[in-house]
Formats: sequence, C-alpha cells, structure tokens
Amino acid sequence: VRHLLGIKDITAEDIQLIFETADNFKDVLNRPIKKVPSLRDITIANVFFENSTRTRLSFELAEKRLSADVINFSSSSSSVKKGETLLDTVNNILAMKVDMIVMRHSSPGAPHFLSRHIDANIVNAGDGTHEHPTQALLDSFSIREKLGDVAGKKVVIIGDILHSRVALSNIFALQKLGAEVMVCGPVTLLPKYIKELGVKVEFDVRKALDWCDVANVLRIQLERQQMKYFPSLREYTLYYGIDKKMLDSLDKQIVLMHPGPINRGVELSSDAADSHHSIILNQVENGVAIRMAVLYLLASRK
Ligand code: CP
Repeated sequence: VRHLLGIKDITAEDIQLIFETADNFKDVLNRPIKKVPSLRDITIANVFFENSTRTRLSFELAEKRLSADVINFSSSSSSVKKGETLLDTVNNILAMKVDMIVMRHSSPGAPHFLSRHIDANIVNAGDGTHEHPTQALLDSFSIREKLGDVAGKKVVIIGDILHSRVALSNIFALQKLGAEVMVCGPVTLLPKYIKELGVKVEFDVRKALDWCDVANVLRIQLERQQMKYFPSLREYTLYYGIDKKMLDSLDKQIVLMHPGPINRGVELSSDAADSHHSIILNQVENGVAIRMAVLYLLASRK
C-alpha cells in the first residue's frame, strides 16, 4: 500500500501493524525528548482545502516529531482563489521536491483522483462525506487502549451519519477489527444504503446507549446539508442530545467519544463531554501517534 486513501482499501492486518507502530511512537511521545530521526530526509506538504484544527495540527506535529520537513498549504490563502486547479496546485508543490501529500478536500474521491495522476505518497485527511481514515484509526486505537481490544465490543455511532466521513471510516475499521456496529440517528440523517454496510440501525438513543460499550457521538454537519433537514438543531437536541444524567443512569459504564469539533449543547451537553465517561481528549492525544505510524509506514513505500 503506497497511499492511505480510505479504511475500505486496507486489511485488519494493516490496521494492527499501524496500531503496533503507534504503540511504539506513543512511548516516544511520553519521553522528555519526543523527537525521532525516522523521516529526516522526507518533505511533507499538508494541503488543506477545508478548515481543520485537530487533523492539520496533529499531522504537522506528527511530521515534526518524525523530523520531516513540513510545509502547510491552505486553499483559502492560495492561488486556488485565482482559479488554479487541484492537479496544478499539487504538481507545483511536488516540483519543490516534496515526497508526501497529506490532503483534506471537500470533494469525495479527490485524493483517489490525485493518486492516479501524481507520483508521491498521499494520505487522505478527509474527503468530503466519504472517508477520514486516520480519524477512524485513532478512534479504534483509543477503544483498544481503554477496553483492551476492539473485537467483540459493541460500538454505536450516533448522529449525522449521512454527511459523516468519520462514520463511514469508523464502520469499516470497527468491522475489520471484529466489533459489532450500530448507527443511531434520525432517519433523515441516515444514508439510504446504510443496511448494506452490515450495521444495526436504532432510532431511539436511549436504547442505543443501553446496548453499547462505546458511544461515538458525531456533530450535525450543517455546512454539508444542501437543504433544510429535519430535525432542526433544537429538535435534534431534544431527541438525540446526550447529557451526563443520561450516561449516569445507564446500568453500565460506557465510553463516550467524539471526533470534534463538539457542538456543545447540541449533540452533547458540556457536563457529558467533560465527564469521566469521556475519552475525547485521549482521542486527540492518540491522533499524533497514529499519524506518526501512518507516515512512517508509508514513507518506506515509494
Ligand atoms: N476530527 C477532525 O477531523 O477535526 P478537524 O476538522 O478539526 O480536523
């Protein structure tokens, strides 16, 4: 595998190798000197056509911890605004002797298109509503860290499944690793093909929480909604919002996750997001080790 375009394209063995490599890098990140020379002669461009906080900073930090040279491109302050194409933009970046491209783009399939036209490793940092592979890897890695294993665990993904690249990549990763997967949300925010993915579907959030070991709660992605969807944010919170009282009332302790950014007071109350149930900031911490592992493993595959 030369690129990481999606979880759909990789095997359970690939994921385990990434996890074992990330375990080693997590040890490194807990030392006083967090830097290793592994990618000293590699130059990486982070090419972002969409906004990001966690993914962009996490990739940049992972690259710097590996001693790579790093350049950052943001489309909003670039010549894309003058009409330059995606391929011209990336080819110009590669002409400066760049080895790897980490790309976020709003169009599903944009990194796959790029992989057919350029000669460099590509890591998909999120392509529209399609996949967000490193997010799914860090999510499963965080479940493994918290619960010992992903296999056999019951994981529910709650919220705007229709517009979520995190949901699709998580479904692929969790199933490959042997978890049982449920999705829960209003029918208007579930894709029509959802049952073909082999997941359970639940419309009642309380029943979903009663069933699961892990709840991964997603943001309502207003920026991707072409028309006015039911429910409104107020209705969504009324029927699907999760608070600490609800979590505390469950018969068992569950693990609460969220990929960020959180719409506090919409899908999660602040007291839930900041509670002892939550591993949200552990997910962010693990993102650096996972991205170090992905970049390290791909750099050797020219
Ligand atoms: N989880 C995630 O992709 O967050 P950002 O959009 O801030 O990168």
